[in-house]
Amino acid sequence: AEPLKVGVAGLGTVGASVVRILQQKAEQIAARAGRPVVVTAVSARDKGRSRGLDLSNVAWHMDPSQLARARDVDLVVELIGGAEGPARACVETALGAGRPVVTANKALLAKHGVALALAAEGAGVTIAFEAAVAGGIPIVKTLREGLTGNNVSRVFGILNGTCNYILTRMEKDRIGFAECLADAQRLGYAEADPTFDIGGFDAAHKLALLAALAFGVQVDPDGIYIEGIASITPFDLAMAEELGFRVKLLGVATQSESGIELRVHPSMLPKDSAIARVDGVTNAVEIDGDVVGALVLAGPGAGGDATASAVIADIVDIARGAKLPVFGVPAAELTAPKRAPMGTH
Ligand code: NDP
Ligand code: HSE
Repeated sequence: AEPLKVGVAGLGTVGASVVRILQQKAEQIAARAGRPVVVTAVSARDKGRSRGLDLSNVAWHMDPSQLARARDVDLVVELIGGAEGPARACVETALGAGRPVVTANKALLAKHGVALALAAEGAGVTIAFEAAVAGGIPIVKTLREGLTGNNVSRVFGILNGTCNYILTRMEKDRIGFAECLADAQRLGYAEADPTFDIGGFDAAHKLALLAALAFGVQVDPDGIYIEGIASITPFDLAMAEELGFRVKLLGVATQSESGIELRVHPSMLPKDSAIARVDGVTNAVEIDGDVVGALVLAGPGAGGDATASAVIADIVDIARGAKLPVFGVPAAELTAPKRAPMGTH
């Protein structure tokens, strides 16, 4: 069978893992995809940096948009990050050239997802983004493909691995905020600008995508109520624990007759509840569906290999010929949400 030629733009924490796993597991992935999946092109800023990868037969493009229109690329994997700049240009160029895209970039999709989905669907291709929400947890597929028989009334949970890692270490090891954040950065969990993590903005980007998938609405992340974790101290966590609670940064999306409510903020949860028990970089999401009831999915929410697992699932889907609507319904049918007043749910 014809190989699928993949161009990977961005070779940082996630991009390097994706290339390494595609190369190491080439045989297994070819068997599952029904055709070989070959990395033919890459892009990053620093060509001299050692990345522990064999790139000897791979074309190097300094400009990610050049990679997106290169002749030896069928599928563009965007792992640069950021809602604007080179990531947006790369994705728009790929779609303009009629090429499918796989991305982990929630900032880009939360801001421009509807326009990009319209462009993709107009070109007869898809933008797959399993890795953009909750890292390795297959939450996008669960909502888009696994729960199509349900009306979902609520999706909520821990959506940022960096914050949960910081809260857990402050609580269990009594270490200060700055040291915990530095460790999360060293481990590759944090965004290039960690304000997105600790300020709650990254969780809000993910919540916007979950609301689009769960409720079929276009969400402007600027309209989401957002409070981060920067002012929480080990003392606060110890006090909460004494009262029988744990503090978690939650993203909550609820739909009822009064409308849709979206919010991100630290919450006190009873110690024994399923989501309160989730530690470290792990994310956990509960979905309430009218047919299935409540589902809880938990697993690694950040990190190179865990995120690469989700990116590769999307690559294999596309190799198999999948062309699902980006948000489960055609982008033109996504509606403007009726917003419920805060505190309704
Ligand atoms: P990194 O910062 O580790 O990597 C970014 C990569 O993009 C680097 O290889 C960098 O090049 C490259 N890059 C930056 N600017 C340019 C440019 N102008 N031209 C070409 N290449 C460029 O990011 P991550 O791997 O952590 O994240 C990538 C994406 O995945 C982001 O959208 C992030 O939000 C998302 N994500 C990350 C997760 C994680 O756990 N890290 C989990 C889920 C999603 P160079 O190496 O030369 O500097
Ligand atoms: N910075 C993000 C987090 C990466 O910590 O959750 C995964 O999206």
